Amino acid sequence: MSESWQWTTDKFTSDPWRPCYHIAAATGLINDPNGFSFHQGHFQLFYQWNPFGCEHKNKHWGHFSSRDLVHWQSHAAALAPTDWFDKDGCYSGTAVSNGENLELYYTGNVRNGEQRLSYQCKALLQPGGKVEKLGPLTIEGLDNYTGHVRDPKFFRWGEQSWIVLGVQTLDLQGGISLLQQQDQRWCERHYVTKDINFGHPQQAYMWECPDLLQLDDQWLLLACPQGIHSDSAEYNSTNLSGYFTVDMHAGPAELSISNDFQLLDYGFEFYAPQTLQHQGETVLIGWLGLPDEAEHPTVAHNWTQMLGLPRSLSWQDGYLLQQPIAAIRELISGQQQHSYGAGKHSLSGISRSCLLEMELTACGAFQLLLPCGDASLSICANQGQWVIERGELGCANSDKKRVYQSRSENPTKLQLFIDSSSFELFVNDGEAVLSGRLFPQQAWGQAQLVLDDGQVALTLSQLRNSWIEE
Ligand code: FRU
Repeated sequence: MSESWQWTTDKFTSDPWRPCYHIAAATGLINDPNGFSFHQGHFQLFYQWNPFGCEHKNKHWGHFSSRDLVHWQSHAAALAPTDWFDKDGCYSGTAVSNGENLELYYTGNVRNGEQRLSYQCKALLQPGGKVEKLGPLTIEGLDNYTGHVRDPKFFRWGEQSWIVLGVQTLDLQGGISLLQQQDQRWCERHYVTKDINFGHPQQAYMWECPDLLQLDDQWLLLACPQGIHSDSAEYNSTNLSGYFTVDMHAGPAELSISNDFQLLDYGFEFYAPQTLQHQGETVLIGWLGLPDEAEHPTVAHNWTQMLGLPRSLSWQDGYLLQQPIAAIRELISGQQQHSYGAGKHSLSGISRSCLLEMELTACGAFQLLLPCGDASLSICANQGQWVIERGELGCANSDKKRVYQSRSENPTKLQLFIDSSSFELFVNDGEAVLSGRLFPQQAWGQAQLVLDDGQVALTLSQLRNSWIEE
């Protein structure tokens, strides 16, 4: 592999669309984050990875680690699809530190002709980096599902060990299955589903990548229901990523979920997130991609897709807040600050790796236009409605506009991260996030800001590259 590896890595390094401070793989296709954990003094992050091409096949677990969630060190792939129980892909899963080893739980995907089989497997990442595959777990009670059973997420309930899985029933309904560990076996104790009310109630055909976590006093179930059609202006992807609140009083075997499914991201591409809890902080990281996405122009440079920024989660007054992790500020290398009143203002200095922040006072509406050839970005807020539009994306996916209705009438804060071929907009101090990709053919021009009323304190920060080069 070494010669072609070297060649393709060079192409990635010189690619203007290569992220400066987001995770991407130097070759091939990257999708879901996996096994997000803290082990032996480092954050560990694995990811779905086809090292050999830009198609969804040959899924390995790629591996990065970090001390601060900002600077990432790349390691050899932890899992490769080389055994009878994972021969068609080492699919998504979770990691749990047991002190010495890092336990990896993942789905072994097997296809025999038209038939799909899924094995929930375990492996150990040992000190020194050696991985020992232990093969499929013994599981009782998964007979009522099709071959679509995957993405084990491990969690503890008191002293008990549990796994939540995404499943599809024999009548093609998506939901989650909760398994409890009993000695060396895992037994299904509960199945849960809900209609997703996205304009009108609908059943998803599969729920991918479930995650169950407690945030302050509130339990949440994160899931990615597939096959939901929306007639709203807010979203028109059939692959959603969001959460339900969970009543956990009677424990995992009797948990119930709310009717209210909320999106984790109101932008264009966000999917398959995972959370990590460490020292009182909950961090979420997702994939800035969708399962049925069109081909990106970076495929010509032998790589495609990337992960989003890690987000810090909190639960306040019945609402989820998502904020960029504080450590990202370590990348700031230069700053300009301005204060503007009502009127039209221009701003230079938007670059391929920057953070634009606006604190708004007594402002009912603003428009921000960031020109960048055909790939420009425009953000407007008016009477609590935020609209983001991206121009020509540079690939076949022509989805260009998203709308988010805020619960506050006036916009109060905007944080916009730009990184080569991605953007992430944090609205009103973490109330919502809208993220997406775009592939500019030229440098960013002068930004135009129109403020209808009130005032803005604006800060534009340049962000350094966070890659640890080998
Ligand atoms: C979600 C997903 C998972 C699966 C993985 C395969 O994007 O489809 O359900 O484990 O990707 O790469």
